[in-house]
Amino acid sequence: MDRLNGSANLMIVSDLDYTMVDHDDSENLSLLRFNALWEAYYRHNSLLVFSTGRSPTIYEELRKQKPLLTPDITIMSVGTEITYGESMVPDDGWKQYLDHKWNRDIVVEETAKFPELTSQSETEQRPHKVSFYLEKGKASKVVQALSKCLENRGLDVKIIYSNGIALDVLPQAAGKGRALDFLLQKLKTDGLGPLNTLVCGDSGNDAELFGVPQVYGVMVSNAQEELVEWYAQNARDNAQITHATERCAAGIMQAIGNFNLGPNVSPRDIKDSIINIKVLSPSHEVVMFYLFYERWMRGEIENSEQYIQNLKSIFHSTGNSVHPSGVDRSMQQIIYTLPKMFGEKKGHHFRVWIDRVSFAEVSLGSWLVKFDKWELSGNELRCCLTKVLMNSKVDAPNKFTWMHLHQSWLDGSEGKDDTPWFI
Ligand code: GLC
Ligand code: MG
Repeated sequence: MDRLNGSANLMIVSDLDYTMVDHDDSENLSLLRFNALWEAYYRHNSLLVFSTGRSPTIYEELRKQKPLLTPDITIMSVGTEITYGESMVPDDGWKQYLDHKWNRDIVVEETAKFPELTSQSETEQRPHKVSFYLEKGKASKVVQALSKCLENRGLDVKIIYSNGIALDVLPQAAGKGRALDFLLQKLKTDGLGPLNTLVCGDSGNDAELFGVPQVYGVMVSNAQEELVEWYAQNARDNAQITHATERCAAGIMQAIGNFNLGPNVSPRDIKDSIINIKVLSPSHEVVMFYLFYERWMRGEIENSEQYIQNLKSIFHSTGNSVHPSGVDRSMQQIIYTLPKMFGEKKGHHFRVWIDRVSFAEVSLGSWLVKFDKWELSGNELRCCLTKVLMNSKVDAPNKFTWMHLHQSWLDGSEGKDDTPWFI
Protein backbone atom coordinates (compact mmCIF):
# COMPACT_ATOMS: atom_id res chain seq x y z
CA MET A 1 0.00 0.00 0.00
CA ASP A 2 3.00 2.29 0.48
CA ARG A 3 3.25 2.40 -3.31
CA LEU A 4 0.07 4.43 -3.57
CA ASN A 5 0.30 8.14 -3.15
CA GLY A 6 -3.35 8.86 -3.83
CA SER A 7 -6.63 7.18 -4.68
CA ALA A 8 -6.36 3.62 -5.88
CA ASN A 9 -7.53 3.36 -9.47
CA LEU A 10 -9.37 0.08 -8.97
CA MET A 11 -9.80 -2.04 -5.88
CA ILE A 12 -10.69 -5.67 -6.48
CA VAL A 13 -12.11 -7.46 -3.47
CA SER A 14 -12.29 -11.12 -4.31
CA ASP A 15 -13.22 -14.32 -2.58
CA LEU A 16 -10.71 -17.13 -3.19
CA ASP A 17 -12.22 -20.63 -3.39
CA TYR A 18 -14.15 -21.01 -6.63
CA THR A 19 -13.91 -17.27 -7.31
CA MET A 20 -10.26 -16.31 -7.79
CA VAL A 21 -9.21 -19.96 -7.63
CA ASP A 22 -10.86 -22.57 -9.81
CA HIS A 23 -10.23 -25.89 -8.06
CA ASP A 24 -11.49 -27.68 -11.19
CA ASP A 25 -8.75 -26.10 -13.34
CA SER A 26 -5.62 -28.09 -12.54
CA GLU A 27 -3.53 -25.90 -14.88
CA ASN A 28 -4.76 -22.70 -13.16
CA LEU A 29 -5.04 -21.03 -16.52
CA SER A 30 -7.66 -18.43 -15.71
CA LEU A 31 -5.81 -17.49 -12.53
CA LEU A 32 -2.56 -17.07 -14.47
CA ARG A 33 -4.40 -14.96 -17.04
CA PHE A 34 -5.71 -12.73 -14.24
CA ASN A 35 -2.25 -12.49 -12.68
CA ALA A 36 -0.70 -11.26 -15.93
CA LEU A 37 -3.47 -8.68 -16.35
CA TRP A 38 -3.10 -7.41 -12.80
CA GLU A 39 0.69 -7.11 -12.79
CA ALA A 40 0.87 -5.54 -16.26
CA TYR A 41 -1.82 -2.89 -15.85
CA TYR A 42 -3.03 -2.54 -12.27
CA ARG A 43 -0.46 -3.45 -9.64
CA HIS A 44 1.25 -0.04 -9.56
CA ASN A 45 -1.87 2.05 -8.96
CA SER A 46 -4.59 -0.29 -7.69
CA LEU A 47 -5.39 -2.49 -4.72
CA LEU A 48 -5.89 -6.24 -4.62
CA VAL A 49 -7.86 -7.53 -1.65
CA PHE A 50 -8.56 -11.19 -0.93
CA SER A 51 -11.61 -11.76 1.22
CA THR A 52 -11.88 -15.39 2.21
CA GLY A 53 -13.69 -17.62 4.68
CA ARG A 54 -10.40 -19.40 5.32
CA SER A 55 -8.47 -18.93 8.54
CA PRO A 56 -4.85 -17.70 8.28
CA THR A 57 -3.65 -21.33 8.57
CA ILE A 58 -5.52 -22.71 5.58
CA TYR A 59 -5.17 -19.48 3.59
CA GLU A 60 -1.39 -20.04 3.77
CA GLU A 61 -1.91 -23.62 2.61
CA LEU A 62 -3.82 -22.41 -0.44
CA ARG A 63 -1.04 -19.94 -1.27
CA LYS A 64 1.40 -22.84 -1.40
CA GLN A 65 -0.86 -24.87 -3.69
CA LYS A 66 -1.98 -22.22 -6.19
CA PRO A 67 -0.25 -19.39 -8.08
CA LEU A 68 -1.96 -16.65 -6.10
CA LEU A 69 -0.61 -13.12 -6.27
CA THR A 70 0.37 -11.31 -3.09
CA PRO A 71 -2.62 -9.16 -2.11
CA ASP A 72 -2.30 -5.68 -0.62
CA ILE A 73 -4.90 -6.47 2.02
CA THR A 74 -6.19 -9.80 3.30
CA ILE A 75 -9.55 -10.28 4.96
CA MET A 76 -9.82 -13.75 6.46
CA SER A 77 -12.19 -15.87 8.53
CA VAL A 78 -15.32 -14.40 6.89
CA GLY A 79 -14.56 -10.74 7.52
CA THR A 80 -13.39 -11.17 11.10
CA GLU A 81 -9.64 -10.66 10.53
CA ILE A 82 -8.14 -7.85 8.44
CA THR A 83 -4.40 -7.66 7.73
CA TYR A 84 -2.30 -5.23 5.71
CA GLY A 85 0.65 -5.72 3.41
CA GLU A 86 2.93 -8.63 2.75
CA SER A 87 3.84 -8.96 6.39
CA MET A 88 0.12 -9.19 7.17
CA VAL A 89 -0.08 -6.64 9.97
CA PRO A 90 -3.39 -7.22 11.81
CA ASP A 91 -5.95 -4.46 12.23
CA ASP A 92 -6.36 -4.42 16.01
CA GLY A 93 -9.02 -1.71 15.84
CA TRP A 94 -11.24 -4.10 13.89
CA LYS A 95 -10.73 -6.88 16.44
CA GLN A 96 -11.73 -4.59 19.29
CA TYR A 97 -14.76 -3.35 17.42
CA LEU A 98 -15.97 -6.94 16.95
CA ASP A 99 -15.96 -7.63 20.67
CA HIS A 100 -19.15 -5.62 21.00
CA LYS A 101 -22.03 -7.88 22.12
CA TRP A 102 -19.92 -10.96 21.41
CA ASN A 103 -19.25 -13.76 23.81
CA ARG A 104 -17.63 -16.76 22.21
CA ASP A 105 -18.21 -19.04 25.20
CA ILE A 106 -21.96 -18.55 25.02
CA VAL A 107 -21.95 -19.33 21.29
CA VAL A 108 -20.05 -22.56 21.93
CA GLU A 109 -22.40 -23.48 24.78
CA GLU A 110 -25.60 -22.88 22.79
CA THR A 111 -24.46 -24.50 19.54
CA ALA A 112 -23.53 -27.64 21.50
CA LYS A 113 -27.26 -28.17 22.02
CA PHE A 114 -27.76 -28.80 18.27
CA PRO A 115 -26.81 -32.35 17.32
CA GLU A 116 -27.21 -31.44 13.61
CA LEU A 117 -24.10 -29.23 13.86
CA THR A 118 -20.70 -30.86 13.40
CA SER A 119 -17.71 -28.78 14.42
CA GLN A 120 -15.23 -27.78 11.73
CA SER A 121 -11.50 -28.30 12.36
CA GLU A 122 -9.70 -26.43 15.16
CA THR A 123 -7.90 -24.18 12.66
CA GLU A 124 -11.26 -22.75 11.51
CA GLN A 125 -12.41 -21.80 15.03
CA ARG A 126 -11.29 -18.21 15.46
CA PRO A 127 -11.74 -15.50 18.11
CA HIS A 128 -14.76 -14.04 16.28
CA LYS A 129 -15.90 -17.07 14.27
CA VAL A 130 -17.35 -20.41 15.36
CA SER A 131 -17.83 -22.81 12.42
CA PHE A 132 -19.72 -26.02 11.71
CA TYR A 133 -20.89 -28.32 8.97
CA LEU A 134 -24.62 -28.66 8.48
CA GLU A 135 -26.65 -30.60 5.91
CA LYS A 136 -28.44 -28.44 3.38
CA GLY A 137 -31.92 -29.82 4.12
CA LYS A 138 -31.67 -28.92 7.81
CA ALA A 139 -30.11 -25.50 7.34
CA SER A 140 -33.03 -23.09 7.50
CA LYS A 141 -34.65 -24.74 10.54
CA VAL A 142 -31.43 -24.90 12.52
CA VAL A 143 -30.48 -21.32 11.63
CA GLN A 144 -33.83 -20.05 12.88
CA ALA A 145 -33.75 -21.99 16.13
CA LEU A 146 -30.13 -21.11 16.83
CA SER A 147 -30.72 -17.38 16.24
CA LYS A 148 -33.53 -17.45 18.81
CA CYS A 149 -31.36 -19.22 21.38
CA LEU A 150 -28.49 -16.77 21.00
CA GLU A 151 -30.80 -13.79 21.03
CA ASN A 152 -32.32 -15.04 24.28
CA ARG A 153 -28.81 -15.10 25.73
CA GLY A 154 -28.38 -11.42 24.85
CA LEU A 155 -26.02 -11.87 21.90
CA ASP A 156 -26.25 -10.04 18.60
CA VAL A 157 -24.83 -12.52 16.09
CA LYS A 158 -24.79 -13.20 12.39
CA ILE A 159 -25.31 -16.74 11.12
CA ILE A 160 -24.14 -17.43 7.56
CA TYR A 161 -24.70 -20.57 5.53
CA SER A 162 -22.30 -21.16 2.59
CA ASN A 163 -21.52 -23.73 -0.09
CA GLY A 164 -24.55 -25.80 0.92
CA ILE A 165 -22.51 -27.18 3.84
CA ALA A 166 -20.77 -24.59 6.07
CA LEU A 167 -22.33 -22.64 8.91
CA ASP A 168 -20.50 -19.73 10.54
CA VAL A 169 -21.54 -17.84 13.65
CA LEU A 170 -19.98 -14.35 13.83
CA PRO A 171 -20.57 -11.08 15.68
CA GLN A 172 -23.31 -9.05 13.98
CA ALA A 173 -20.73 -6.37 13.14
CA ALA A 174 -18.53 -8.88 11.25
CA GLY A 175 -18.87 -10.53 7.83
CA LYS A 176 -17.25 -9.79 4.50
CA GLY A 177 -19.52 -6.80 3.76
CA ARG A 178 -19.03 -5.08 7.11
CA ALA A 179 -15.27 -5.63 6.90
CA LEU A 180 -15.26 -4.01 3.46
CA ASP A 181 -17.29 -1.04 4.74
CA PHE A 182 -14.74 -0.58 7.50
CA LEU A 183 -11.82 -0.87 5.08
CA LEU A 184 -13.30 1.61 2.58
CA GLN A 185 -13.80 4.11 5.39
CA LYS A 186 -10.24 3.67 6.55
CA LEU A 187 -8.78 4.04 3.04
CA LYS A 188 -10.84 7.16 2.51
CA THR A 189 -9.51 8.68 5.72
CA ASP A 190 -5.96 7.93 4.55
CA GLY A 191 -6.66 9.53 1.14
CA LEU A 192 -6.36 6.17 -0.66
CA GLY A 193 -10.06 5.54 -1.30
CA PRO A 194 -10.46 3.69 -4.62
CA LEU A 195 -12.11 5.34 -7.62
CA ASN A 196 -13.89 2.05 -8.34
CA THR A 197 -14.36 -1.12 -6.33
CA LEU A 198 -15.26 -4.49 -7.82
CA VAL A 199 -16.38 -7.26 -5.47
CA CYS A 200 -16.25 -10.86 -6.68
CA GLY A 201 -17.81 -13.95 -5.16
CA ASP A 202 -19.48 -17.31 -5.59
CA SER A 203 -21.17 -18.33 -2.34
CA GLY A 204 -23.35 -17.37 0.63
CA ASN A 205 -20.71 -15.62 2.68
CA ASP A 206 -20.02 -13.32 -0.30
CA ALA A 207 -23.60 -11.99 -0.51
CA GLU A 208 -22.85 -9.16 1.92
CA LEU A 209 -20.10 -7.86 -0.35
CA PHE A 210 -22.69 -7.09 -3.01
CA GLY A 211 -24.69 -4.98 -0.57
CA VAL A 212 -21.86 -2.51 0.10
CA PRO A 213 -22.95 0.88 -1.32
CA GLN A 214 -21.61 1.93 -4.71
CA VAL A 215 -19.46 -1.09 -5.44
CA TYR A 216 -19.56 -3.03 -8.69
CA GLY A 217 -20.08 -6.73 -8.23
CA VAL A 218 -19.59 -9.96 -10.14
CA MET A 219 -21.00 -13.34 -9.28
CA VAL A 220 -18.90 -15.78 -11.25
CA SER A 221 -20.77 -18.13 -13.62
CA ASN A 222 -20.26 -21.05 -11.24
CA ALA A 223 -21.86 -19.20 -8.27
CA GLN A 224 -23.65 -21.36 -5.71
CA GLU A 225 -27.42 -21.61 -5.53
CA GLU A 226 -27.61 -19.69 -2.22
CA LEU A 227 -25.86 -16.63 -3.73
CA VAL A 228 -27.88 -16.65 -6.95
CA GLU A 229 -31.08 -16.86 -4.88
CA TRP A 230 -29.93 -14.02 -2.66
CA TYR A 231 -29.29 -11.94 -5.79
CA ALA A 232 -32.74 -12.73 -7.25
CA GLN A 233 -34.42 -11.63 -4.03
CA ASN A 234 -32.30 -8.64 -3.11
CA ALA A 235 -30.27 -7.17 -5.92
CA ARG A 236 -31.90 -8.04 -9.23
CA ASP A 237 -32.43 -4.38 -10.19
CA ASN A 238 -28.92 -3.32 -9.33
CA ALA A 239 -27.23 -2.69 -12.71
CA GLN A 240 -23.85 -2.59 -10.95
CA ILE A 241 -24.02 -6.32 -10.27
CA THR A 242 -23.54 -8.90 -12.97
CA HIS A 243 -23.67 -12.68 -13.19
CA ALA A 244 -20.71 -13.57 -15.41
CA THR A 245 -20.91 -16.24 -18.07
CA GLU A 246 -17.30 -17.20 -17.38
CA ARG A 247 -16.00 -19.19 -14.45
CA CYS A 248 -13.87 -17.86 -11.59
CA ALA A 249 -11.01 -15.46 -12.49
CA ALA A 250 -12.18 -15.38 -16.12
CA GLY A 251 -15.52 -14.07 -14.83
CA ILE A 252 -13.70 -11.33 -12.91
CA MET A 253 -11.92 -10.20 -16.09
CA GLN A 254 -15.21 -10.31 -17.94
CA ALA A 255 -16.76 -7.98 -15.35
CA ILE A 256 -13.85 -5.52 -15.57
CA GLY A 257 -14.77 -5.25 -19.26
CA ASN A 258 -18.55 -5.10 -18.69
CA PHE A 259 -18.27 -2.22 -16.29
CA ASN A 260 -15.46 -0.46 -18.21
CA LEU A 261 -13.17 -0.46 -15.21
CA GLY A 262 -9.95 -0.65 -17.21
CA PRO A 263 -7.98 -3.02 -19.45
CA ASN A 264 -9.48 -6.52 -19.37
CA VAL A 265 -7.57 -8.43 -22.02
CA SER A 266 -4.92 -10.48 -20.31
CA PRO A 267 -1.44 -10.33 -21.83
CA ARG A 268 -1.71 -14.13 -21.85
CA ASP A 269 -4.47 -13.83 -24.44
CA ILE A 270 -2.28 -11.83 -26.77
CA LYS A 271 -0.45 -14.21 -28.99
CA ASP A 272 1.72 -11.59 -30.68
CA SER A 273 4.10 -11.71 -27.73
CA ILE A 274 6.49 -8.82 -27.44
CA ILE A 275 7.18 -8.15 -31.07
CA ASN A 276 4.14 -6.26 -32.26
CA ILE A 277 2.72 -5.10 -28.98
CA LYS A 278 2.76 -1.50 -27.90
CA VAL A 279 4.27 -1.63 -24.43
CA LEU A 280 2.63 0.75 -21.99
CA SER A 281 4.86 0.71 -18.91
CA PRO A 282 7.87 -1.05 -17.38
CA SER A 283 5.53 -3.52 -15.65
CA HIS A 284 3.80 -4.34 -18.92
CA GLU A 285 7.25 -4.84 -20.46
CA VAL A 286 8.39 -7.43 -17.88
CA VAL A 287 5.07 -9.32 -17.95
CA MET A 288 5.25 -9.56 -21.75
CA PHE A 289 8.91 -10.54 -21.67
CA TYR A 290 8.43 -13.43 -19.22
CA LEU A 291 5.42 -14.63 -21.17
CA PHE A 292 7.64 -14.75 -24.20
CA TYR A 293 10.18 -16.70 -22.14
CA GLU A 294 7.53 -19.22 -21.01
CA ARG A 295 6.29 -19.71 -24.57
CA TRP A 296 9.80 -19.99 -25.95
CA MET A 297 10.72 -22.67 -23.41
CA ARG A 298 7.44 -24.51 -24.04
CA GLY A 299 8.14 -24.34 -27.76
CA GLU A 300 4.84 -22.60 -28.37
CA ILE A 301 6.03 -19.82 -30.62
CA GLU A 302 7.61 -19.88 -33.98
CA ASN A 303 11.32 -20.31 -33.47
CA SER A 304 12.14 -17.44 -35.71
CA GLU A 305 15.08 -15.18 -36.29
CA GLN A 306 12.70 -12.27 -35.81
CA TYR A 307 12.52 -12.94 -32.06
CA ILE A 308 16.26 -13.05 -31.69
CA GLN A 309 16.56 -9.76 -33.58
CA ASN A 310 13.93 -8.28 -31.32
CA LEU A 311 15.83 -9.37 -28.22
CA LYS A 312 18.94 -7.72 -29.58
CA SER A 313 17.03 -4.49 -29.64
CA ILE A 314 15.64 -5.03 -26.12
CA PHE A 315 18.90 -6.05 -24.42
CA HIS A 316 21.59 -3.39 -24.47
CA SER A 317 24.80 -4.47 -26.17
CA THR A 318 26.83 -3.84 -23.01
CA GLY A 319 24.12 -5.04 -20.63
CA ASN A 320 24.70 -7.86 -18.17
CA SER A 321 22.69 -10.29 -16.09
CA VAL A 322 23.50 -11.68 -12.67
CA HIS A 323 22.07 -15.15 -12.15
CA PRO A 324 20.98 -16.01 -8.56
CA SER A 325 23.98 -18.33 -8.28
CA GLY A 326 26.15 -15.23 -8.64
CA VAL A 327 27.28 -15.97 -12.19
CA ASP A 328 27.49 -12.77 -14.20
CA ARG A 329 26.87 -13.04 -17.94
CA SER A 330 26.59 -10.50 -20.69
CA MET A 331 23.21 -10.10 -22.29
CA GLN A 332 24.90 -10.97 -25.57
CA GLN A 333 25.67 -14.39 -24.12
CA ILE A 334 22.04 -14.84 -23.20
CA ILE A 335 20.88 -14.02 -26.70
CA TYR A 336 23.43 -16.48 -28.04
CA THR A 337 22.17 -19.26 -25.73
CA LEU A 338 18.50 -18.64 -26.40
CA PRO A 339 18.01 -20.68 -29.59
CA LYS A 340 19.46 -23.75 -27.81
CA MET A 341 16.81 -23.46 -25.12
CA PHE A 342 13.88 -23.38 -27.50
CA GLY A 343 11.25 -25.99 -26.63
CA GLU A 344 13.31 -27.34 -23.72
CA LYS A 345 10.14 -27.49 -21.60
CA LYS A 346 7.88 -28.80 -24.32
CA GLY A 347 5.32 -31.21 -22.93
CA HIS A 348 6.31 -30.24 -19.36
CA HIS A 349 4.15 -28.50 -16.87
CA PHE A 350 6.04 -25.22 -17.18
CA ARG A 351 4.70 -21.78 -16.24
CA VAL A 352 6.22 -18.43 -15.37
CA TRP A 353 4.46 -15.59 -13.64
CA ILE A 354 5.29 -12.26 -12.05
CA ASP A 355 4.16 -11.00 -8.66
CA ARG A 356 4.56 -7.72 -6.74
CA VAL A 357 5.92 -5.70 -9.65
CA SER A 358 6.92 -2.13 -8.86
CA PHE A 359 8.84 0.46 -10.81
CA ALA A 360 10.32 3.90 -10.28
CA GLU A 361 12.01 6.39 -12.57
CA VAL A 362 15.38 6.74 -10.83
CA SER A 363 16.61 9.40 -13.21
CA LEU A 364 15.16 10.79 -16.42
CA GLY A 365 14.30 7.86 -18.71
CA SER A 366 15.94 5.33 -16.39
CA TRP A 367 13.69 2.84 -14.61
CA LEU A 368 14.28 0.44 -11.77
CA VAL A 369 11.77 -2.40 -11.95
CA LYS A 370 11.43 -4.93 -9.13
CA PHE A 371 9.32 -8.07 -9.06
CA ASP A 372 9.16 -11.69 -7.97
CA LYS A 373 9.60 -14.10 -10.84
CA TRP A 374 7.94 -17.44 -10.16
CA GLU A 375 8.73 -20.47 -12.23
CA LEU A 376 6.91 -23.78 -12.00
CA SER A 377 8.55 -26.70 -13.72
CA GLY A 378 6.90 -30.05 -13.10
CA ASN A 379 6.58 -30.10 -9.31
CA GLU A 380 9.44 -27.67 -8.72
CA LEU A 381 8.37 -24.18 -7.74
CA ARG A 382 11.00 -21.49 -7.39
CA CYS A 383 11.07 -17.77 -7.02
CA CYS A 384 13.66 -15.13 -7.80
CA LEU A 385 13.60 -11.61 -6.48
CA THR A 386 14.43 -9.73 -9.63
CA LYS A 387 15.61 -6.20 -10.38
CA VAL A 388 15.90 -4.79 -13.85
CA LEU A 389 17.36 -1.46 -14.79
CA MET A 390 15.88 -0.29 -18.08
CA ASN A 391 16.09 2.86 -20.13
CA SER A 392 13.52 4.60 -22.26
CA LYS A 393 14.27 7.32 -24.73
CA VAL A 394 12.58 10.71 -24.73
CA ASP A 395 11.51 10.24 -28.35
CA ALA A 396 10.31 6.65 -27.72
CA PRO A 397 8.96 6.54 -24.14
CA ASN A 398 7.33 3.14 -24.65
CA LYS A 399 10.41 1.35 -25.82
CA PHE A 400 12.58 0.01 -23.04
CA THR A 401 16.17 -1.18 -23.25
CA TRP A 402 17.29 -3.66 -20.60
CA MET A 403 20.61 -2.54 -19.14
CA HIS A 404 21.08 -4.75 -16.13
CA LEU A 405 19.26 -7.67 -14.60
CA HIS A 406 19.91 -9.02 -11.13
CA GLN A 407 18.26 -12.03 -9.55
CA SER A 408 18.48 -13.57 -6.10
CA TRP A 409 16.69 -16.56 -4.66
CA LEU A 410 13.69 -16.03 -2.49
CA ASP A 411 14.40 -17.92 0.76
CA GLY A 412 13.84 -21.60 0.29
CA SER A 413 14.10 -21.54 -3.52
CA GLU A 414 17.85 -22.02 -3.56
CA GLY A 415 19.55 -25.27 -4.32
CA LYS A 416 16.52 -27.44 -5.05
CA ASP A 417 18.31 -28.59 -8.16
CA ASP A 418 21.21 -27.35 -10.23
CA THR A 419 19.41 -26.51 -13.47
CA PRO A 420 20.97 -23.28 -14.65
CA TRP A 421 18.25 -20.82 -15.23
CA PHE A 422 18.18 -18.86 -18.34
CA ILE A 423 16.99 -15.49 -17.15
C1 GLC B 1 -14.10 -21.50 4.51
C2 GLC B 1 -13.72 -21.65 5.97
C3 GLC B 1 -14.85 -22.24 6.79
C4 GLC B 1 -16.12 -21.46 6.54
C5 GLC B 1 -16.44 -21.43 5.05
C6 GLC B 1 -17.67 -20.62 4.74
O1 GLC B 1 -14.22 -22.73 3.91
O2 GLC B 1 -12.56 -22.46 6.08
O3 GLC B 1 -14.53 -22.21 8.15
O4 GLC B 1 -17.19 -22.09 7.23
O5 GLC B 1 -15.34 -20.82 4.39
O6 GLC B 1 -17.61 -19.32 5.20
MG1 MG C 1 -15.92 -19.18 -2.54
